[in-house]
Amino acid sequence: MRKKITIIGAGNVGATAAHWAVVRGLGDVVLLDVVEGVPQGKALDLWQSGPVENFAFGVKGSNDYADTAGSDIVIITAGLARKPGMSRDDLLAINVSIVKTCAEEAVKYSPDCVLIVVTNPIDAMVYTAFKVSGLPRNRVIGMAGVLDSARYRTFLADAIGVAPMDVNAMVMGIHGDKMMPLVRLANVAGIPITDLLSEEKINEIVKRTQVGGMEIVNHLKTGSAFYTPGLSAIEMAEAILKDSKRVLPCAAYLEGEFGISGCFLGVPVVLGEKGVERIIEFKLTGEEKAAMNESVAAVQDQMTATGL
Ligand code: NAI
Ligand code: 2OP
Repeated sequence: MRKKITIIGAGNVGATAAHWAVVRGLGDVVLLDVVEGVPQGKALDLWQSGPVENFAFGVKGSNDYADTAGSDIVIITAGLARKPGMSRDDLLAINVSIVKTCAEEAVKYSPDCVLIVVTNPIDAMVYTAFKVSGLPRNRVIGMAGVLDSARYRTFLADAIGVAPMDVNAMVMGIHGDKMMPLVRLANVAGIPITDLLSEEKINEIVKRTQVGGMEIVNHLKTGSAFYTPGLSAIEMAEAILKDSKRVLPCAAYLEGEFGISGCFLGVPVVLGEKGVERIIEFKLTGEEKAAMNESVAAVQDQMTATGL
């Protein structure tokens, strides 16, 4: 049976995700937004690319959650995006009320869906969606780690002079300046990056990754990144819909893993048809544990600010 993917928020990230969903052959897409006309217009335009791109899926734009009924995956991108000078936390108050409505409405019509949350600040927004949706923890997941790791891998590949897909590297923790691009485990085809780059260069790349979102905001001035964010959400959706058991860094709700409980944090997870099928735990060094604890403290502050 054909799969159905709903994307809430037909802005830059949502429309890009819709594009990748049909290009990657995931299924029928519903693009929903509060603004009348925008999801309809973008969906119509995207649907008409079918004969050229060779896909035969439906793409529908809507302002009505009834059209999202029976979705396998719901991706929430609705909300404000950052402008120069704004942190992800500045977005919290307004986006928490938006994400609340989106998650409640989406689950009313698609009780069996897996929710992928993209709206920032992501670690608090995915917590908001988890709290109000009533879904089990395996079916509410935040997108950030795939994006942050893609940035890290791109910068490493560029510095080493190799293809980015041959760089294995992961970013864990919060989606913010305290995120943890792991150096110890990063490698090129199994060769440690510490054998290929100086400590100074690695530190520079780690720092650039941590503020990678703001680097793009400062260029764009009117919004934030959307090509890689939209694609990253679809990478997660594809792993779930195809039950492929991909190991991707995602914001997952922790219940004792890595010694942490009661919050969402970026960790390596196995994604399959049930959503988060497993969180892969491994031994952290003292320094990594300390960085993880800093992430937890920052996420807990955000969670408190949601009032949930
Ligand atoms: P955008 O401004 O282009 O699009 C947001 C869309 O949400 C707009 O079309 C708006 O009308 C819609 N919207 C607002 N309230 C709504 C509601 N109640 N129901 C349905 N739709 C609603 O912003 P963009 O660039 O698409 O970013 C969206 C969000 O994703 C932002 O919060 C941004 O910070 C976040 N983001 C998160 C990333 C991550 O790694 N987790 C990466 C990139 C963006
Ligand atoms: C990013 O990292 C804005 O969180 C978004 O690009």
